[in-house]
Amino acid sequence: MFTDALSLSDQKVVVIGGSSGIGFSTALLAAGLGANVCIASRNSERLAAAVTEIEKLSKHPVTALQVNIEDRSRVKDFLDEVGAVDHLLIPGSTVIPQLLPDMTEEVARAAFDSKFWGPFWCAIDAQGNMPRGGSITLYSGVAAERPVKGFVIGAAIDGAVNALVRSLALEYGPHKIRVNAISPGLILTPLLTTIDHFVSRVDPSDELAAQSPLRRAGEPVHCALAAIGLMLNEFVTGEVINVEGGARAMP
Ligand SMILES: NC(=O)c1ccc[n+]([C@@H]2O[C@H](COP(=O)([O-])OP(=O)(O)OC[C@H]3O[C@@H](n4cnc5c(N)ncnc54)[C@H](OP(=O)(O)O)[C@@H]3O)[C@@H](O)[C@H]2O)c1
Repeated sequence: MFTDALSLSDQKVVVIGGSSGIGFSTALLAAGLGANVCIASRNSERLAAAVTEIEKLSKHPVTALQVNIEDRSRVKDFLDEVGAVDHLLIPGSTVIPQLLPDMTEEVARAAFDSKFWGPFWCAIDAQGNMPRGGSITLYSGVAAERPVKGFVIGAAIDGAVNALVRSLALEYGPHKIRVNAISPGLILTPLLTTIDHFVSRVDPSDELAAQSPLRRAGEPVHCALAAIGLMLNEFVTGEVINVEGGARAMP
């Protein structure tokens, strides 16, 4: 009975943004728990490398498809291609941090297109793919509640995603589809190295980690464990699960 409660056996788990970081770790863990995994993102080489790793743990062949979450029409085609989905996770997005005086309207709009509108329309368009008992997991971030200099737009998007999942949970509840968000704190993924140049100018990430209650940054698997819990637990919806090592408790 306990092992059944911890199994994703033969469930279809789709991770948009599954070739790296938090999404990749989640795809790995889901495959290890018996899921039939499909990953998607923009870069085909990174997808192929991720498939090789996930298939080492998977009893099913892993599928990988190129998708840009910002392209609603491509995402709709992708959803047609994958068909029924038990659990849809959407960590795939790109937000370029900018210090306020440098911020351009173009960069601000691009960030919302990627991390808000992309997952928003994907969650709307995927309803027909989801059976009763399915779940959708979106990704926000601790900046919604604990501002970090240079992440004004990122924080605004994170807050919008947190509000979105509560409303979608209400709308989708009668269909027995659950909608939640994971709000990561500082998690050591390739994302941090891409913004390292930026972060080091305003607030070094190791300094941020050293100030936090646990005096450390998190690993992708910490968010992956939360995602697995959200897939397995049929009584959780409309929640924002914070995986941030106590960052919000910092004085
Ligand atoms: N790491 C942190 O400290 C942290 C903190 C707060 C919030 N978050 C949030 O957690 C989520 C996952 O972040 P991560 O750290 O795991 O990032 P990551 O390691 O950079 O991985 C991002 C994944 O998303 C894909 N992706 C990026 N833009 C995409 C797009 N437009 N369409 C489709 N796929 C796209 C990437 O592949 P391609 O580039 O090939 O498309 C990659 O597979 C993000 O929403 C991020 O904002 C992370």
